[in-house]
Amino acid sequence: MLKIAVFNFKGGTAKTTTTLNLGASLADSGYTVLLIDLDGQRTLSFGLGLDGEQPTALDWLKGKKSVTPLQTSVENLFLIPGDIGLFRLDANKDIFVPALKKLPKVDIILMDCSPGLSTASVQAILNSDRVLIPTLCEPASLKGLAEAVDLIRNERADMPIEVVRTRYKTRLLLTKEADDLLIEASVESDFRLLHTTIPENIAVAESIAQQLPAITYAPNSSGAKAYKSMAKEITKYWEKG
Ligand SMILES: Nc1ncnc2c1ncn2[C@@H]1O[C@H](COP(=O)(O)OP(=O)(O)O)[C@@H](O)[C@H]1O
Ligand SMILES: [Mg+2]
Repeated sequence: MLKIAVFNFKGGTAKTTTTLNLGASLADSGYTVLLIDLDGQRTLSFGLGLDGEQPTALDWLKGKKSVTPLQTSVENLFLIPGDIGLFRLDANKDIFVPALKKLPKVDIILMDCSPGLSTASVQAILNSDRVLIPTLCEPASLKGLAEAVDLIRNERADMPIEVVRTRYKTRLLLTKEADDLLIEASVESDFRLLHTTIPENIAVAESIAQQLPAITYAPNSSGAKAYKSMAKEITKYWEKG
């Protein structure tokens, strides 16, 4: 069971969109995938049409009820929905270790973290096998990326980190500048920059509002195709360990 935290300090870097669409693409290739919505804003749960359903991630972390993940509209893709109470979650001990032990076995768990350093985000990172950081490809966004990498490495020096460029705009000079900086940073800070980039694509944004993954809502869109390529690329690295 591979546990991945999807994290960035910054909001709006497509963490939730990536969790949803990478998860759906992985499930489509035959993996069993569990998504856990750790953000009190619950965009992931909304995007799968399951916001407000129970048991939630807060129930799961508090160990109150036996938690059966919900089936989503995609075969092999399950969800533990978010909970507004996650904003107030505080813990003086590790609550993820016992909670993770109680989950049914799946191939891959993707945990959608809130921006910033909530209790749930910190514990999710500490209990993950790898961290996936979605980032916008703009010089201004790279500060958030560097800080996220430093923070993770302070806690776990050997944590494998993959970075994916989202909302990618090929023809901008700004993108080119950020690309160069990112390649340098990946060498210096020892993270893997995925070759696959996720383009800015209206179908991806629309699919969340339609409460469907992009691969279902618009399978031929550039965004859906990019998330499928990303799933192919990233599982190669995950399998190598
Ligand atoms: N590839 C994309 N193309 C266009 N819009 C996107 C794309 N990825 C994300 N978005 C939009 O960007 C905004 C932030 O995405 P979201 O996944 O909620 O970010 P985060 O979880 O990091 O805060 C949302 O409005 C989403 O629809
Ligand atoms: Mg989010």
